[in-house]
Amino acid sequence: MSDAAILVTEGLGWTIGGARILEDVSLEIRDGEFLAVIGPNGAGKTSLFNLLTGLHEPTAGRVRLAGEDITDLPPHARAQRGLKRSFQVTSIFTALTVHENARLAAQAELRGSFDIWTRVTRRDAASQRADRALELTGLADLADEVAANLSHGNKRKLDLALVLAQDPRVLLLDEPTAGMSMEDLPDLVRVVRDIQAQGTTVVMVEHRMDVVIDLADRIAVMHHGSLLACDRPDAVMANETVQTAYLGESL
Ligand SMILES: Nc1ncnc2c1ncn2[C@@H]1O[C@H](COP(=O)(O)OP(=O)(O)O)[C@@H](O)[C@H]1O
Ligand SMILES: [Mg+2]
Repeated sequence: MSDAAILVTEGLGWTIGGARILEDVSLEIRDGEFLAVIGPNGAGKTSLFNLLTGLHEPTAGRVRLAGEDITDLPPHARAQRGLKRSFQVTSIFTALTVHENARLAAQAELRGSFDIWTRVTRRDAASQRADRALELTGLADLADEVAANLSHGNKRKLDLALVLAQDPRVLLLDEPTAGMSMEDLPDLVRVVRDIQAQGTTVVMVEHRMDVVIDLADRIAVMHHGSLLACDRPDAVMANETVQTAYLGESL
C-alpha cells in the first residue's frame, strides 16, 4: 500500500426529491489499501458507491480516479478505467456452472479489446482470468458445479469472483457478507484480504464493525449521510464523535 490517493471525493453531496442523502463527503482512498466503510442502515453507504460508480449524479462535489476527474463519466467509462463494484444483490446465472459464470464476466470486460481475428485468444484470455478468479476465491474445485447448487457462502464468493474476473483496479464491495452465517464470515473476509494482497484497492461496505476491525487498513464511518471519521481502526474506536454517534447506538 502507498500513500498515493487512487480514488478521491471532494465535497460530495446528493439530494434527491428534496431529501439530502449525502452531504460534503470528502474521502481519499489510497492506492492498494483495504478501506472499510461502516455505518448503520440508511447511513448512505450504498448511495456513496452509486456516486462513485456513476449510477447517480452528485448534486455537489467531484470524484477523481487516479488523478482524473471522472464526475461526469458514465458508469461504463469508469468501469473501463478499473473501477468495479459488486452489488448487494447477486448477479449470478444460476443455471450456468461456476466457471461459465466467471468466464462470462471476464468476457464482458474483455469485449472490444481484441479484434475479430483474435476471437480464440479472447476466449482463452477470458478463461484464464476466470481460472485465476476462482483460484483466488477458493472456488477452483467447484468450477464445474452448477451455480444453483452452491452453498450461500460459496455464492457470495462467486459474486466476488465475478468482479475479480473483470480485473479491477479499485474494487467496491457492497456488503459482500450479506446473509452469511457468522461461521462463514472469516473465510469470506480472508478472501477479500487476499484480493487486496494481490495489489487491488478494496473498498468494502459492512455494517458490522467487528467483521472488519482486524482486517481493514482504515475505516470510514458514515452517519446520516456524512463522513464522521476515516482513520486506522484503533483511532476510529477511540474517536469520541464516532463513539457517541454510532458505537453508543449499535454496539
Ligand atoms: N434512489 C433513491 N431515492 C430516494 N431516496 C434514496 C434513494 N436511494 C437511497 N435513498 C435513501 O438514502 C438513504 C441512504 O440509503 P443507502 O445509501 O442505501 O444507505 P446504506 O447503504 O448505508 O444502508 C436512505 O434513507 C434511503 O432511503
Ligand atoms: Mg446499503
